[in-house]
Amino acid sequence: MDMLAEPFYKSPESHNHPQENHKKIWAVAGGKGGTGKSIIASSIAVQLATRGKKVVLIDADLGSGNIHTYLGVSPGVINLANFLKNRTSCLSDTLVSTQYENLYLISDTNEVLGLANISSRMKGEMIRQIHSLDFEYIIIDLGAGTSYTNLDFFLISDHGLLVGIPDPASLENIYRFIRSCLNRKLMYRFHGSPYQSLIEKSAYPKESDGVNSIYDLVEKVYQLNPSAAEKMVDEILQFKPRLIMNQVRSQSDIQVGESVRDVTKKYLGLNLNYIGYVTYDDHVKLSAKKCAPIFQKYPNSGAAVCIRNIVNKFLGV
Ligand SMILES: Nc1ncnc2c1ncn2[C@@H]1O[C@H](COP(=O)(O)OP(=O)(O)OP(=O)(O)O)[C@@H](O)[C@H]1O
Ligand SMILES: [Mg+2]
Repeated sequence: MDMLAEPFYKSPESHNHPQENHKKIWAVAGGKGGTGKSIIASSIAVQLATRGKKVVLIDADLGSGNIHTYLGVSPGVINLANFLKNRTSCLSDTLVSTQYENLYLISDTNEVLGLANISSRMKGEMIRQIHSLDFEYIIIDLGAGTSYTNLDFFLISDHGLLVGIPDPASLENIYRFIRSCLNRKLMYRFHGSPYQSLIEKSAYPKESDGVNSIYDLVEKVYQLNPSAAEKMVDEILQFKPRLIMNQVRSQSDIQVGESVRDVTKKYLGLNLNYIGYVTYDDHVKLSAKKCAPIFQKYPNSGAAVCIRNIVNKFLGV
């Protein structure tokens, strides 16, 4: 099991970088592969950059990333492998420019075997240096699945975006991703406390333990210490991932996002913010084939309009 000794994640009240608070870290995940995480992460980054924000997009789909292709950046020798393989100690040495003046990329590479399995120490160092990058927006594209790397990058973000598609497997994976993140968040927060073993039990529920859900967990902790249970509830409520439904084709597809939000509230007690949807649109694939962002080739396509709407919502415009 991955060690928790390195406190990657800190609850908001314990952040100790007040001068860095203006930075916004957005991480894009989704549990399942191929839902459109990278398309949406790169499109959001392009949108922010064209609105004059200084943005870096980090391809943290370690070993399988393809953000450079979606941005039309050729895979060069400067990429994350240099940092992860200790060829440079500075993450900022791996920045490359893009066709957009304000947008920089930290590209993944698939050249190196084993890059997907970075050590806990390296992950901690990468996270520390991400916090120090001199950008207004730091967008992190994550790979599929619930690896500790994905969970930890998601948990350090100010906004965690989940990209789902309206099919049962994707929804199941979204739910599993949220559940895993929540558990890891509680593990960090209550590491070394008397409640740690209960949290671990809730991560691997067995009928005999009687800790089969987050509600069971809070109730058990409440019986031991009501104020600890309150802190746990606070921690759960602070976790507010945002959901984007991608590749929707109908009104009922759009409504699937509302069901995910309701189920998450009912079974995990947390507030998932359903921020918007992106329609299924062949222009997405066409622009990907041309290795260009959708805003460059098809700025008025349905998907481009949806993504602009989502960014407007984020920025409150
Ligand atoms: N709204 C959309 N309409 C049509 N096709 C889309 C849409 N969004 C994504 N796609 C297509 O789906 C495929 C997967 O997209 P993408 O690479 O962004 O997924 P991903 O979630 O990042 O995958 P992975 O888990 O492998 O990283 C691509 O071919 C992309 O063009
Ligand atoms: Mg991807």
